[in-house]
Amino acid sequence: MQDLPSCGPTRLKAHEHDLPCRAQMAIYPIRTFGDPVLRLPTKPIAEIDDIVVTLARDMIEIMYDAPGVGLAANQIGISRRIAVFDANDELGPRVMINPEIVETAGEFEMDEGCLSVPGHYWEITRPAFARVKALDLDGNEVEYAGDGLLGRVLQHEIGHLEGGLLLDVLPKRARKKALKELRDEALGFA
Ligand code: NI
Repeated sequence: MQDLPSCGPTRLKAHEHDLPCRAQMAIYPIRTFGDPVLRLPTKPIAEIDDIVVTLARDMIEIMYDAPGVGLAANQIGISRRIAVFDANDELGPRVMINPEIVETAGEFEMDEGCLSVPGHYWEITRPAFARVKALDLDGNEVEYAGDGLLGRVLQHEIGHLEGGLLLDVLPKRARKKALKELRDEALGFA
């Protein structure tokens, strides 16, 4: 089968890896609330090989296709510390490998949803600003920092990589209510 000349967002070319783009994307269903893989802390990536590069490319496509502003590998069942995001800013699509939050500041309430908890949004308070260190696909150390949607996405995706979900950061009472909603929905009451 001949490879398509390009697939997915053309901005990916900015990463300058020249692997052929596959004609057909692997099918990775997005894992949803209740799937245990979402609750396992992911393992760091030891080597950025072609498999990781291809995974990152697939993750960006899945994220845009969903559509979402971020996706962590365990959301597609791969328990490795890699996430992608596009906070609708000049950064475009980015990959973060083995990311760590190194600084947060302030406080910010925002409507937040998650591809793994589809159809639900909650007002969630988190630090407004986040600074993250990670590796890019070339193994270079990169830093992403910002507030607004970017700050939020960085924290949300790294939460996933640690086995977290947005429900965990809700205040206790709101969390109970949210869990009840999700339970009722699973049982077909909602
Ligand atoms: Ni999410």
